[in-house]
Amino acid sequence: MADRTTTFTGIEFENPFLLSSAPPTESESNIMRAFEAGWGGVVTKTIGLHPVVNVVGAKAKFMRTSPDDAYVSMKKRPGAALHSSWNWELISDKALDWWVPRIRRIKDAFPNRVLIASIMAGSGNDKELRNWQTLAEACQDAGADGVELNFSCPHMDRKDMGSNIGKDEGLCSVVTEAVKEVATVPVWTKLTPATPDIVVEAAACFRGGADAIVSSNTFPSLPIIDPETLEFEINVDGLVSAGGLGGPAILPLSLCNMARMCQAFPDRAFSGIGGISDFAQALSYFLIGCGTVQVCTAAMLDHAVGPNVIRKLLAGFDQFVEKHAGTGWTTLEAFRGARRDRMVLQSEIRRPEGDDYQGGYEVVEGYASPEQAARV
Ligand SMILES: Cc1cc2nc3c(=O)[nH]c(=O)nc-3n(C[C@H](O)[C@H](O)[C@H](O)COP(=O)(O)O)c2cc1C
Repeated sequence: MADRTTTFTGIEFENPFLLSSAPPTESESNIMRAFEAGWGGVVTKTIGLHPVVNVVGAKAKFMRTSPDDAYVSMKKRPGAALHSSWNWELISDKALDWWVPRIRRIKDAFPNRVLIASIMAGSGNDKELRNWQTLAEACQDAGADGVELNFSCPHMDRKDMGSNIGKDEGLCSVVTEAVKEVATVPVWTKLTPATPDIVVEAAACFRGGADAIVSSNTFPSLPIIDPETLEFEINVDGLVSAGGLGGPAILPLSLCNMARMCQAFPDRAFSGIGGISDFAQALSYFLIGCGTVQVCTAAMLDHAVGPNVIRKLLAGFDQFVEKHAGTGWTTLEAFRGARRDRMVLQSEIRRPEGDDYQGGYEVVEGYASPEQAARV
């Protein structure tokens, strides 16, 4: 067996694969099952101090598409492949008092597996900053190995919460700093992709003392309108609000944000999320510089906690290390970031040389049809 161990923000991991904060980690029994299945760590469903009431009906659904029509829809069709998950689920509807004894029991049962507590409060006043501290202290006292600050939930109505913090560099650093004042464990911050330049918020979190940046949460999105009923495919009383897109569709988007942050801060720690279901996708995140990766959508579709997903991730890791052992890539740390510098400005990409180059004016302009091209 390959050496899968890694140290990330000072925490020892049996392997670098975590379940992200989401339904797979919403309960004690799920997390216990996840550890039994082999996950190196979990990030709990986000814990808050305010009462949470979710919408009526489904909180998450999956979109699929087929090669025949490229139609992206929540309707189940034979032969259709997964495109994405869509959700408008809020943070955990269980109180902090419910979580604390469970965190303790999970850590007692699995002392060598990593449990990170995802937490969220507001940021509008000092009382809310104190709430972050209360959450962090309660979770670390219960045995959590770290805390992940949720600056990223895309569907919060409150202006001072979730991705509204992640879009504001001032709030990112103030909240991080407040948690760092009381934290005795590493502090990770999970950023939203719904911002023009995620590097700005990453810098702010590091200024506030963050030990790692986690990216990405889901992307703001809407389900499609059914052409027959003229209703959104998921709605309550005909109404919908912007929710979050996850799964395969966001992999390239999330990778781009992550690559930019890893380049801007090559010596910092990053945990990659978005569209991972197999080692091939995890590898992209490792090669641009991530030290751990997290999974949600793929696990939700695999017995709720992803026993087959983690089996494939571990097998893929072992095979990769075995294949590259000759080059010295025997641990994740040896190949982490090996492709970090490959993303450059478009102007730095080689152009065709000599007679091939038409100065941008091709003989056939634009995307001419083969018939037009043949006539020239
Ligand atoms: C139903 C659902 C609930 C989620 N709840 C949370 C949450 O409470 N806190 C959080 O930080 N992220 C939450 N997420 C985001 C996931 O942790 C993850 O960042 C996102 O789904 C992208 O990963 P994926 O492509 O593997 O799904 C949720 C995602 C889904 C689908």
